[in-house]
Parts: sequence; C-alpha cells; structure tokens
Amino acid sequence: MEILQIEGGRRLEGEILISGAKNAALPLMIASLLTDEELVIENVPDLSDVRQLVEILANHGVDIVTTAHTANLSNISAGSSLHLKSDKVNNLHAPANLVAKMRASFWVIAPLIARFGYAKVALPGGCEIGSRPVDFLLDGLRALGAKINIEDGYVLAEAAKGLTGADYHFPNITVGGTHVMLMAASLAQGETRLYNAACEPEIVNLANLLIKMGANIEGAGTPQIIIKGVKKLHGSQIATIADRIEAGTYAMAVAMAGGKVLLRGADINHLPCVEQILQACGVGINAVPEGILVERLADRLSAVDISTEGYPGFPTDLQAQFMALMTTAIGKSIIKENIFENRYMHVEELKKFGANIEVNAQEAVVTGVDRLHAADVLATDLRASASLIMAGLVADGITTIGNLHHLDRGFAQLEAKLQACGAKITRLNK
Ligand code: EPZ
Repeated sequence: MEILQIEGGRRLEGEILISGAKNAALPLMIASLLTDEELVIENVPDLSDVRQLVEILANHGVDIVTTAHTANLSNISAGSSLHLKSDKVNNLHAPANLVAKMRASFWVIAPLIARFGYAKVALPGGCEIGSRPVDFLLDGLRALGAKINIEDGYVLAEAAKGLTGADYHFPNITVGGTHVMLMAASLAQGETRLYNAACEPEIVNLANLLIKMGANIEGAGTPQIIIKGVKKLHGSQIATIADRIEAGTYAMAVAMAGGKVLLRGADINHLPCVEQILQACGVGINAVPEGILVERLADRLSAVDISTEGYPGFPTDLQAQFMALMTTAIGKSIIKENIFENRYMHVEELKKFGANIEVNAQEAVVTGVDRLHAADVLATDLRASASLIMAGLVADGITTIGNLHHLDRGFAQLEAKLQACGAKITRLNK
C-alpha cells in the first residue's frame, strides 16, 4: 500500500501552482457529448477522477486526445489540454462498473438524453460522505419531458421527440442538478427557467462554455437561470477555472504550519467566505496579481465558528480542512456541516493526533490544544485526506497516512507542491 510520511514542524515558504478545478473540469468534459464538433478544454488537472471520466466518455465513443503541459522551472504539472470529439458516439449506456468509480459521470445522462433522446445510466449510489441521491436531477429531466424509469439500478431516460423547455424549482440547492439542467435545457425546444439553482463558480464555467457553443443562457451564478433552447451546439474552447477548493486547502495548510506562500493562479473572488473566516483567525490572505498571498500572522490562531452552505457560503469541501486548522487554535470552534449527512469521518482520525473534538448530530466542537503529536492514520474520503496531511505538517514526530486513493482523486501532485515549499513529505510503498 502507498503511504505518505510527514515530518512535522516545518514552515511553508514559496509558491504553489493551483491546478484547474476538478469540479469544473468534469462537467466541461461531459458537455462534449452535446455536439459532434470538437471541444478543447484547457488547464484540466492531472487527477484520477479526470482519468476515470476520460475512460467513461471513451466508452460512449468520444474521441479524446490529451496534451500534457508542465509549468516552467519545475516538474509541476500545468494541467492538460483535452481535445474531445463526439461525432462517433455509438453507445448510450453508462455501465455500473464505470459510474461507480466516479459519481459525477452520472451527469452524462443530460447530454445523452438531450442530443440522442435516450440514455441508460447506472445510478451512482452513495459514497463515504452521504447517500447522494439524484432525485432532483431526475425530477428536473422529467420537467423537460423525459420519460424516466428505474430498473435494476439503472435509470432509463427517453425523449424520442426531444426535450421541451419548462420551469423547474430545485427543492434544495444541487450543484450536479444545476449542471444537468443547464446541459439538458440548452438543446430543449423552448425556454427553461431554473429556480433555486446552485451559484458555484464551476456552474458559471460550464455556462460560459455552453454559451460559447451557441447556447442561450442568462443568470448563471445566480439562483435564477433562463435557458432558451437551440437546435444545435457547435464546438468551442474554454479554460478550466482554478480550483478554489485546492487553493483554500493550501491556504489553510500555510495557516496551520506557519509561513508565507503565493497560491499562483488562485482567484480570491471564488473564496469570499473563506477569506473572511481566515482573516478572523489571524491569517493574512490577500489578492496579488499572480494569485493569492497567504501568510500566518498570529503566533497562534484564534478559533472561529463556521457553518457550511452553498456558494458563496463556506464550502462543505473545505470543512474537514478547517476543522484540522482549528485543532491548534486558541478557544472553541463550532463547526456545522449542513450539506452532507456523514462528513465528520475525519474526526476520529484527527483525534489520533491528540485533537479535542466532540461531535453531536451535525455539529462538531473543536477545543484547541497547544500541540499535536504524530499519528498513523487512514484517509476516509477525498477532502478529509487533506485535513490529515495538515495535522501531520504540525504534529511532533513522523506521521503516516494510508488510503491515498482518496487523496489522488482531487489533489494533483500534492507532495511535490508541499515539498517545494519546505515540507518533509514523501510517498512510500509499505
Ligand atoms: C458537488 O457534488 C461536488 N462534486 C461536491 O464535491 C460538493 O461537495 C457538492 O457539489 C456540494 O458543493 C462535483 O462537483 C463533482 P449536490 P453534488 O447535488 O453535485 C443532496 C468533492 O469533494 N441532493 O450539490 O453531488 C445531496 O445528497 C465533492 O469534490 C439530493 O438530496 O452535490 C447533498 O446532501 C464532494 N438530491 C446536497 O443535496 C439530489 O437530487 C448537495 O448535493 C441531489 C442532491
């Protein structure tokens, strides 16, 4: 098994190149199924989830050529350019064994039903952080006239005469549901109005691509989006936005370990709530022309409460990392996870470092301690793996972290990026 070994106690100084956003690249790639012309997507991150989606799209018959780039003066990946062409799609079936490996691949149902009038896609099922139902996604497609049946774990979607624009009110905010409805409604006949839509920057990235492909979309990034369907979408090109979750993660790592780091390419406008919270903790976090400059100002950080919400609130994907940060802050931090029902699995692992954390229902109370000690821990899910690495960066002694497949889904070249800033972190085979 591969493990990470970290020697704690070293400050982070230098710069980290922030990769393209996983949660933007995935829907951008899926949008290639909407047209028979070539899409070019730049700044695609080098992640296992992306490689998995390439395999899933190829299974549908999408031609994909990947050109990798490296950043100058270092061996850090500067992401890839993906050339995707769906003029020879010969399979409208997404099998369980592929969808199960990367849940967001379920979103292919939207372009398949919108462009081809038929899709058979395995239900994605739950994951470590929750049951992850797709009921709102299916209700939205029904609102556009799709006939939806569920048989033996598969969703059979049909719209022989194409989709028809309609109004749809999301019962709860859903990022995937908003992506799905944007893609499906772009090729529907007539107008679709979405209410209570997700506002994440990744939604805007997808909408901007669809508009460049000829779609007629207004309001992306706000809760109300109007899509006037068009007959056909053409090829285009777009760059994946920088990964705000990766940037927020490294900002918290610097805040925890101490030091000063430039997060090259990061956009502070995509982290409004995180910027305020970290400043309140005693962290210097400021926009600079090259990205975001982060510096730990106070000797010890102050505890601050957070409650996770949809964008522009505090992101659920940074909750575990913030919890790690609070383990050595002064005072008590109350952390409320409102998006997923089981996103505290990092708590038991963080307690192995000597952290003082009490969980009752959806609330965790972190009481800061002076020091953490090294531990041997196992990652439980993607973002939790980063919280354990942060603890290892400050813990006294040598920490080991296993189950790295979780980490490799969402953080490109994490060790190399931290090593370049002075961390003693290595990946070993045990
Ligand atoms: C996206 O997941 C992200 N994944 C998640 O990031 C992120 O945590 C989440 O949005 C929230 O921001 C990608 O973009 C690939 P939702 P998604 O639909 O779209 C419930 C990471 O670490 N819900 O916004 O699946 C759902 O169970 C991942 O990169 C329904 O009940 O999330 C959850 O409790 C983790 N019915 C809440 O809504 C539905 O039909 C928000 O889910 C859909 C969702």
